[in-house]
Amino acid sequence: MTTDANDAGRVLIFDTTLRDGEQSPGATMTHNEKLEIAGLLDEMGVDIIEAGFPIASDGDFAAVSEIAKNANRATICGLARANYKDIDRCWEAVKHARSPRIHTFIGTSPLHRAIPNLTKDEMADRIHDTVTHARNLCDNVQWSPMDATRTEWDYLARVVEIAIRAGATTINIPDTVGYTAPVESADLIRRLVAEVPGADEIIFATHCHNDLGMATANALAAVEGGARQIECTINGLGERAGNTALEEVVMALKVRHDIMPFVTGVDSTKLMHVSRRVATVSGFPVQFNKAIVGKNAFAHESGIHQDGMLKNAETFEIMRPEDVGLSETNLVMGKHSGRAALRSKLKDLGFEVADNQLADIFVRFKALADRKKEVYDEDLLALVQDAGAEGEQRLALKFLRVICGTEAPQSADLTLTVDGTDHQVTANGDGPVDAAFNAVKDIFPHAARLQLYQVHAVTEGTDAQATVTVRMEEDGRIVTGQSADTDTVVASVRAYVAALNRLLVRREKAGKDTKEISYRDVS
Ligand code: KIV
Ligand code: ZN
Repeated sequence: MTTDANDAGRVLIFDTTLRDGEQSPGATMTHNEKLEIAGLLDEMGVDIIEAGFPIASDGDFAAVSEIAKNANRATICGLARANYKDIDRCWEAVKHARSPRIHTFIGTSPLHRAIPNLTKDEMADRIHDTVTHARNLCDNVQWSPMDATRTEWDYLARVVEIAIRAGATTINIPDTVGYTAPVESADLIRRLVAEVPGADEIIFATHCHNDLGMATANALAAVEGGARQIECTINGLGERAGNTALEEVVMALKVRHDIMPFVTGVDSTKLMHVSRRVATVSGFPVQFNKAIVGKNAFAHESGIHQDGMLKNAETFEIMRPEDVGLSETNLVMGKHSGRAALRSKLKDLGFEVADNQLADIFVRFKALADRKKEVYDEDLLALVQDAGAEGEQRLALKFLRVICGTEAPQSADLTLTVDGTDHQVTANGDGPVDAAFNAVKDIFPHAARLQLYQVHAVTEGTDAQATVTVRMEEDGRIVTGQSADTDTVVASVRAYVAALNRLLVRREKAGKDTKEISYRDVS
């Protein structure tokens, strides 16, 4: 096997977690979280990182510039619509990279052409002019006909040729609405490669959405057809049903190399860690039965499976857990485990934590070990996730006591610290969680709507920690908060407060004055 990027069997991995993935409602990441994820992707061997959409906001611009400055190996790409202002802004952000790329796009299908109200000829001219402009700024230009899979063949072939002549070095063929199927995906690329003049001088990319659950299959089929760049996201994060999952294409090409003789430059042993970090910072948990990185992907519970596994792991496993970075040992930690053991365990789980972060996690670990006899890997992951809450935490839960039982109403006595000042309130509700949320809302009134409230047990047993996810929406801005605790109500309030803290960050980003956040003084 070779990993030479010029080899015919080499498939470039283009990760768009920070752009297409982050576009997913509620998946917003902070500046530092984006830098961290970009660093992990770079280290893992992703070839191109689409770091954001620089014209979208000053925050996006700053994140793309910073990622460009810090990248060691990967090409750093920014997205731009088909106009000079977008392209110039994109270049300003990516130009700091050792290897920069401008990615410009326009919707070419009949439905998308109707939006800017351009005729076919006018759009063709726009494509020529904008790709030429981008190419005058940067040697590495990617062009995408958005909704390519629903664009008339003649027109698609015509505009692809125009983009190539104007200097595009990569042509990406997006299945924007997840409409295509594997046979069609392969045929489309094959035909473009065969029939468009200049096609042999550029790289074709595939960008699939998962609306019909075929994104990975479509991307792999496109590679069979001649594409040599797959656009994908960690955990398949992305709008609606998401994008092709990076971990799936990387492992499919690795495990079925016999029938798909292609290689990527990705170090698959880092997949699990990156997946967990993306799940944490995006607030989008990975479904338990998700291929490759799901909690159950390597779990064998049924008696028949366990028996077979004990005799020969290959009976039911087509890849080894360690191939994707899953540590096989679930070494239990307890209240006598020391700081060094904790640090080493976290390292096994893929977390190199700074001293002050370790100190914080250690305090939480001791508190957990006091309440729970055995602390498992999943418990520690939940702790790291909680300790990783980033940025200024303007709201914090200080005290909570709930009264619940068969007699309604339930009540919560709660103290919330708001910008350093404690506020105490007692509120009633329909159940302890409702009462506690009402208490938070009494202190910090807001109009955000609770979209999702989800509880998962981290491990088995009645002393298990519960991970709670809360998703809220305010003026079209969606935020997510997560927390874990052996007390479900405490985890719920912390997750709720984490979401509210993120909401404050989002309000600030949107230019709202949040210095004096509105809260009811009940202290
Ligand atoms: O899905 C899509 O069409 C896109 C383009 C911007 C490439 O994300
Ligand atoms: Zn997309």
